[in-house]
Amino acid sequence: MSSPSDQTRRTIILTALATAVHASAARSAAAEEDAPGSDLRPQKADVLVFAEGDHAGEVIKPQDLTPGGPFVRAWPKDPKTSVIRKGSRLNEVVVVKLDPAELDDDTRARSADGIVAYSVICSHAGCPITAWGKAAQGDKDVLKCVCHNSEFDPRQSAQVVFGPAPRRLAALPLAAADGSLTVIGTFIGKVGAQQGG
Ligand code: FES
Repeated sequence: MSSPSDQTRRTIILTALATAVHASAARSAAAEEDAPGSDLRPQKADVLVFAEGDHAGEVIKPQDLTPGGPFVRAWPKDPKTSVIRKGSRLNEVVVVKLDPAELDDDTRARSADGIVAYSVICSHAGCPITAWGKAAQGDKDVLKCVCHNSEFDPRQSAQVVFGPAPRRLAALPLAAADGSLTVIGTFIGKVGAQQGG
C-alpha cells in the first residue's frame, strides 16, 4: 500500500502533467488562429472545410451536404498553406445545397450546382445564423438568426424576408472542383452587422 506522501507526490505529478497538456493545447490552438493568412477574408481558390462537428477541419465534398438543407457551417482554407482562415469570425460561412431550379439567376450563377454559401454573420447586430427552418411567412425553409428573428432566403441572394435585419447576407461565390467546394471570388456585399461589426 502506498504511503500518504507517495499519494501526495503522485497527485502533484498528475496535476503538473495535466497543466502541461492543457497549456500545450492552448498554445497550439492560439498558433492555429495566429497562422499567417488565418484572418484574411476568403480568397479565390480556397476550399471549404467543416467548422464544427466530428469532421471539423475536413474538406466539404458536395455529396456531404443534404439536398434541401439544413446548412453546415464552414471555414475557408488555403489549399497551398493548409491554413484554415478561422482567425476572424467574419470569415465563417453557412453552406446549403438547394435545387438549382429554385435559385434566382444571380444566386444560381454564384452556386456550385445549387450549393450556395453566405456569411454566417447576421446583418442586424452580428449574431451568427444558427437555424434552418420554415419561414414565418410562406412555407419555404430559410436561414434564421434567432437573436431577433431575422430570416434570409438563400435562393434569392439571402435577401431579408422577415425581421429587423437591414440587408442581405454577404454571398461567397463557389464552384465544385476536384471533389471539393472552391471559392471563386471574394464576398459580394458587406460582411458583418450594420454597426460595422
Ligand atoms: S442579430 Fe440577427 S436578428 Fe438581430
